[in-house]
Amino acid sequence: MFDHRIMAEDKPTLYRDLASALEGLVSGEPDPIANMANAAALIFETLPHVNWAGFYRNIDGELVLGPFQGRAACIRIAFGSGVCGVAAQTRQTQLVEDVNAFPGHIACDSASNSEIVVPLVRNGNLIGVLDIDSPRTGRFDEDDRAGCERLGEILSRIL
Ligand code: SME
Repeated sequence: MFDHRIMAEDKPTLYRDLASALEGLVSGEPDPIANMANAAALIFETLPHVNWAGFYRNIDGELVLGPFQGRAACIRIAFGSGVCGVAAQTRQTQLVEDVNAFPGHIACDSASNSEIVVPLVRNGNLIGVLDIDSPRTGRFDEDDRAGCERLGEILSRIL
């Protein structure tokens, strides 16, 4: 049994504990689907005020839905389209305070109001993106950016 309930007073500590739990969860397992599935579950369970957490994979230059937690989502996203597509194209984390103000945002769940998308890059290749949505406007800040990018580094190594 895996029991990763993580409690922390502040975000840096929360992300430090989350990163450590993620390292433990994926260590020694080479299967990328299993690792993405467990990572999505761990992130969704740990981060407060999140309604979607999961992956889009780069399949021949198109983002295709991967393992996630949350409501069923759009399956294919073109590079440059929506928050995920911009993250994939620019290879820059997208931290969106209000998705309704983001040009081209793709609304998979109308409950989502803010979003963070981290590109996953290994050896210069874009593997996919980690996408986390919140019903709260402005849910993600610079602590979340740093924390999620750390999760992205761990995931990029093993996916
Ligand atoms: N909102 C994303 C689409 C994916 S869902 O949030 C799960 C976007 O604009 O790329």
